Order: sequence, then C-alpha cells, then structure tokens
Amino acid sequence: MRPEPFPFGPLSSDRLRLDPLRVDDADEMVGVLADPGLYRYTGFETPPSLDELRERYRRLTAGPPPPWADLWLNWIVRAEGVAVGYVQATVKGESADVAWVIGTRHQGLGYATEASRMMLRALDDGGVRTFRAYIHPRNAPSQAVAAHLGMRKLPGQPFDGEDLWETHSS
Ligand SMILES: CC(C)(COP(=O)(O)OP(=O)(O)OC[C@H]1O[C@@H](n2cnc3c(N)ncnc32)[C@H](O)[C@@H]1OP(=O)(O)O)[C@@H](O)C(=O)NCCC(=O)NCCS
Repeated sequence: MRPEPFPFGPLSSDRLRLDPLRVDDADEMVGVLADPGLYRYTGFETPPSLDELRERYRRLTAGPPPPWADLWLNWIVRAEGVAVGYVQATVKGESADVAWVIGTRHQGLGYATEASRMMLRALDDGGVRTFRAYIHPRNAPSQAVAAHLGMRKLPGQPFDGEDLWETHSS
C-alpha cells in the first residue's frame, strides 16, 4: 500500500513555523522565489512561473512514483505568518538528502539555519540517522548553514560540481 505522502506535521519555534507543502503555497512562494540570484549555485534553474510552481508542488505533494522507496518532504518556512522560503528532505531509509532556500529579502537572519535545524530534529525523531547536502564550492552561505548543522564537507572532488556535506546523529 502506498504510504502516507507526508508523515510529518507542522513544526514551530518561537519565531518560525514550518508548514507541510500544499499546492496553494505556490501563490505565495512565486514571489519568494522570483530573484534569479537565488539560483546562482543550484544549476540552470530559473525563477518558476506560477503555473510551473503549482505543477512542481503538485508533483512534490503527490510524492514519488512506485515503489515508494523514498519520502519527499517539503516544508514552507514562515516568519510571522509570511512565507520566507522552504526546506526539503528526500528520505531513503535512515538517510536524508536535505536542502534549504530562503528568499533574498529574508536572508541573513538565521532563518535557514533555524529552519533546517528544526527539520533535522524532526527527521532524527523519525529515525533518520544520516543527513547529506550537496553544496556548490563557492556557496559560502549554504556552507555556513551546513556547518551550523554539524555537517562536514567530505574529502574528494565535487560531485557534479557540488561538494557532499554530511553529518550523523547518535
Ligand atoms: C543558503 C541560504 C538558504 C542561507 O539562508 P539564510 O537564511 O540567509 O541563512 P542563515 O541566516 O541561517 O545563515 C547564513 C550564514 O551564511 C553566512 N554568510 C552569508 N553570506 C556569506 C558570504 N558571502 N560569505 C560567507 N558567509 C556568508 C552568514 O554569516 C551566516 O553565517 P553565521 O550564522 O555564521 O553568521 C540562502 O542564501 C539561499 O537561499 N541561497 C540560495 C539557494 C541556495 O543556494 N540554497 C542552498 C542549496 S545547497
């Protein structure tokens, strides 16, 4: 039987709320994701149109196709009720690939670090033990976030132009 597409609920701290992604979040997120500068270190992506974002969110909330080996988890990050970015995890057994994006106007306030920490804690509670992030060698802000999460860059050549960062929970 297909598992529940999203087994994790909302997460909250004093200043942030992480809401499980819904297709309608596209309306708010299209503005958050509109700055082309956000994609400098993440490949050839360009800002999505509203239709593209709705379609993307439809796919993400539906979850992966059979045999459902992975879980796709996405949370919209909100500060004072306003969407400021998202965090995501692709969970395979006890490992998760994680990523974070915060809209340009909302950067530098510690949101990515705090939201990602909340996500890692929830995943850890759910039994995930290894966390990985693929980060461009020149993406200093993302490297700083990873370091705050206790991740370390693994030695070796970048994979597809990105370094692999990793941490394990005890
Ligand atoms: C990476 C990103 C999510 C960080 O978001 P944020 O909310 O600004 O992050 P935080 O405020 O939690 O922390 C950013 C850290 O980067 C540091 N930083 C910011 N700009 C920096 C720079 N040019 N050089 C070095 N460090 C920098 C900050 O000082 C901070 O570290 P500190 O807490 O030790 O002071 C945001 O820049 C982003 O969305 N970038 C585009 C998408 C992206 O690249 N995502 C990551 C894909 S792997």
